[in-house]
Amino acid sequence: IKKISHRGQAKSMLTIAHRGASGYAPENTLASFDKAMDMKADFIEIDLQLSKDGKLMVIHDDSVERTTNGKGNVRDLTRRELQALDAGSWFDPVFAGERIPTFDEVLDRYPQKCGLLIELKSPALYPGIEQKVYDALAGRGLIENREPKIIVQSFDTNSMKLFHDIAPTVPIGVLVKFTPKGISNAQLEEFKKYANYVNPNKRLVTKKLISRIHAHDMKIIPYTIRDRRSANAFLQLDLDGITTDFPDYIKPAKA
Ligand code: G3P
Ligand code: CA
Repeated sequence: IKKISHRGQAKSMLTIAHRGASGYAPENTLASFDKAMDMKADFIEIDLQLSKDGKLMVIHDDSVERTTNGKGNVRDLTRRELQALDAGSWFDPVFAGERIPTFDEVLDRYPQKCGLLIELKSPALYPGIEQKVYDALAGRGLIENREPKIIVQSFDTNSMKLFHDIAPTVPIGVLVKFTPKGISNAQLEEFKKYANYVNPNKRLVTKKLISRIHAHDMKIIPYTIRDRRSANAFLQLDLDGITTDFPDYIKPAKA
């Protein structure tokens, strides 16, 4: 995968807007994705879950309760019921009326403008979700056309192996939670069989880990930067990207 260079940024490091510019607008809504575009993020990161009627929906939690005015689990509500919910007011009343987007709505609006880092959030809950994501991308020519940048990631390595079998040309990321043990070479050897990115919790990041991931021919995009001090520290490292709620901390707006 070719590195993408930033406009005016000395280092080649992608700015990934985590659930959109979620420090400024309600996560995983068109408002947060549009804000990320305003801030010139290179990618938006989105989380996918499946509705009761099998539609790919852009929402982080398995339940709607934290980020909407509704109750219950995403998998127990239809697309229509999910899209009737207010996904903005919990963040700030000014965002009242923001909806849970469908994956199709995101695919209609963003791939020509920015990359998409697509997380399969709880794939074990949704057998067949990998094929549905593939079908949605393929239906829009986003598998063959490598110009719009697409990366698919998950904490669930079984799901990522399956996705790689379905779509061997699509870059895959393995998300890694913090563990005091760090990431072993045996794990890196295993990830390398199907993944292009190792995307660890920021607490795992050391110069040594970055070199080891690069030595295994993979890239590294840690998550999630939420303060300026960490952003400035991470900008000094040889990372391939930074996932952040505040894209402007990584890529300050230009006049
Ligand atoms: O891109 C990494 C990040 O999104 C993973 O954690 O819980 O924010 O989805 P989470
Ligand atoms: Ca995510």
